[in-house]
Amino acid sequence: MTSQPTLVARGVEKSLALGRETIHILHGVSFELGRGEMVALMGPSGSGKSTLLGIVAGLDRPSAGSIVLDGEEIGNLSENRLADVRARKVGMVFQSYNLIPTLTALENVQLPLHVPGRNGHTPEHARETLAEVGLAHRLMHRPSQLSGGEQQRVAVARALVSDPSMIVADEPTGNLDTETGDALMRLLLDIRARLGTTILVATHNDAVAGRADRVLRLRDGLLIEQ
Ligand SMILES: Nc1ncnc2c1ncn2[C@@H]1O[C@H](COP(=O)(O)OP(=O)(O)OP(=O)(O)O)[C@@H](O)[C@H]1O
Ligand SMILES: [Mg+2]
Repeated sequence: MTSQPTLVARGVEKSLALGRETIHILHGVSFELGRGEMVALMGPSGSGKSTLLGIVAGLDRPSAGSIVLDGEEIGNLSENRLADVRARKVGMVFQSYNLIPTLTALENVQLPLHVPGRNGHTPEHARETLAEVGLAHRLMHRPSQLSGGEQQRVAVARALVSDPSMIVADEPTGNLDTETGDALMRLLLDIRARLGTTILVATHNDAVAGRADRVLRLRDGLLIEQ
């Protein structure tokens, strides 16, 4: 069981109907993420990175192909079952942090713990998770009272609080300066080392990708290098 990959994607396609046209975004993407692997996803703007991350994270369904997360096929689950898988197994981090502006750092991190299907943590666990990302002294700050790097750390804590198997990050350093971005990557590597979390990071930044174990390259909806 321990050698079972966290994620196995096979022949993933995504097409969208737009008026009378069909747009083909992903053309049959296959890859695996081993447990505790940190993998970078690179590729030009429009190549399908965010689309692929959304499918892998269970935010969206593939048009064809298979996504197996921790041994469970999630490509064709109902919306409710998919929401449950997301809550238990996946943490997401976005370029623009996506924190709720009216809530404190602590309340933002507590949010996933209110979702049914969570892993049985008390709200206190949010406090500990914020301490783990170095923000024990910022619990009561709202997003506007935090620096970009601090906001992204809150977002990482929110992704981490339900002990996911996998963190999926879409250009997490895109709004951060080089130094702050590098600190965020060190934090993700530290999380991986301590908890064995599998991490998939879409990025345009070679330095970010350089910290990964492996780089997947998308071009026009196909992987060109693994
Ligand atoms: N909901 C949608 N409706 C129509 N087209 C879409 C939709 N979502 C994505 N696309 C198209 O699919 C392609 C891939 O988009 P995607 O956002 O996955 O690219 P990306 O690699 O993440 O790009 P970037 O590096 O700019 O973030 C683009 O051409 C985009 O316009
Ligand atoms: Mg994108």
